[in-house]
Amino acid sequence: MRDCLSIIEEFKKNQNNIEKSIELADKITDKLKNYKLAVYPAGVNGHLIQETLLQYNIRVDKFFDKNYNKIVQVNGVKVLAPDEIEQCDDNTILLICANLRTRYDFFFENAKKINPNIKILNGEMLNRMLKYSNCFNKFKNNKQINLYECEHCGFEKQYCPIATMSLKKFANHKELPNDTRSDKFDWFGYIVSQTCTLKCKHCCEQVALLNDKGFTPVEELVKDVKKLAESTKWLIFVELIGGEPFLHPNIEELITELLKIENIGYIKSFTNATVIPSDELCEIMKNPRFMLHMSNYENILSGKLLENIHKTREKLKEKGVNYLFTPNFEWLDFTGYELNPNQTDEQSLKKAFNDCFISNCNRVYKGVLYRCPHQYSGIQLGKLKKLPIECIDIHTMDKEELSAKLQEFAQLDYIDACKYCKLPYDAKPVPAGEQLGEKVHA
Ligand SMILES: C[S@@+](CC[C@H](N)C(=O)[O-])C[C@H]1O[C@@H](n2cnc3c(N)ncnc32)[C@H](O)[C@@H]1O
Ligand code: SF4
Ligand code: SF4
Ligand code: SF4
Repeated sequence: MRDCLSIIEEFKKNQNNIEKSIELADKITDKLKNYKLAVYPAGVNGHLIQETLLQYNIRVDKFFDKNYNKIVQVNGVKVLAPDEIEQCDDNTILLICANLRTRYDFFFENAKKINPNIKILNGEMLNRMLKYSNCFNKFKNNKQINLYECEHCGFEKQYCPIATMSLKKFANHKELPNDTRSDKFDWFGYIVSQTCTLKCKHCCEQVALLNDKGFTPVEELVKDVKKLAESTKWLIFVELIGGEPFLHPNIEELITELLKIENIGYIKSFTNATVIPSDELCEIMKNPRFMLHMSNYENILSGKLLENIHKTREKLKEKGVNYLFTPNFEWLDFTGYELNPNQTDEQSLKKAFNDCFISNCNRVYKGVLYRCPHQYSGIQLGKLKKLPIECIDIHTMDKEELSAKLQEFAQLDYIDACKYCKLPYDAKPVPAGEQLGEKVHA
């Protein structure tokens, strides 16, 4: 077991060395064959490690999950209550499969509490290690990697050299000699409109309270994105958000034009799935440099809106469009702009900003770059100040100046808005997607 742990540690340190990582993957699979493997919990990441291990002819013996009586089994393998971790013997390794550090820590501590002798490995790290060889072969054979697999592999949170090489190749990225463009600013979300089909009470962008019902024209939006792409060394991705991006009257043209911009790894769009995509949009979304992210409102909606969500999912399936589905049942409530007495001095603000999971959720709306959704919505509503350095008017400067500003912007220690925010420590969990006012029926 010590061997397996040290192989994982070696992989963590050598992730940029692809050959070495593939060698380590072979080593660890040899060792894992001598153990019984259990997976905790049985979520998306748990399913993935099971699939990946099967490619190496290694079977998962059992899953543990608090919803064991609802899930029952995963591809024929039984799901047990976490309490039964106590029964795991010396010959069992528990793979903890959670993509957020805090969630990993929670499952790790819980498993150790139930069985202090349990042998534990980081399932997400193992999954990444075992995927290297397949993904590298794809790259060498000029095939594009699968963005949806990368997302589950944690690529947006943690750099992967294979994903980056592949994205750069297919995005026509060119290394420039003496390139002084920003290398710290590497992704953002463009708010295509403040219009939405829903009125979520706790929407992070406070869309239900915003009044601008127009849509940024394709030409302006593409020009902004191009300018930002040309002012940075490399943009991993650009995401479309809103409001509801699929309400944009020219969404097909918009995505087509964005996909033509060089120096961007991929384009991603969120949707609440209440607007059924056209046949043309479905075809465009099959581009391997595009990723669709569907949020979960099925539990909260009814009537025509729920019907539309079902129709959207059916259509995407029929047209062969892949999408990422976040089954979130809980959000955090960080609405409101009152002073947070725990976040007023420089030290606490820096700590809060550093711990906030959306502090780099850069947003652009009508040519202005904001550092996070809370700051953006507060400024839109006239509750927060639009301060220089913390917000950039990209229309008012040339690319050279913009590049320098982006570099500075990406390295801010905190923003003034953190003084008026419940995140990261004081925001309460709320049911995801709860609607304002009457129950929503179309
Ligand atoms: C603001 S929405 C915009 C796109 C689209 N209207 C949608 O809902 O998918 C972007 C993402 O933020 C998530 N979101 C909104 N408010 C949130 C909150 N308070 N906590 C956590 N996630 C939130 C939504 O579920 C969605 O996945
Ligand atoms: S992040 Fe993507 S390319 Fe990298 S190992 Fe994972 S699936 Fe493969
Ligand atoms: S979170 Fe809700 S209100 Fe906000 S943009 Fe998405 S669907 Fe609309
Ligand atoms: S204002 Fe600060 S703490 Fe609040 S969401 Fe933005 S970055 Fe996070």
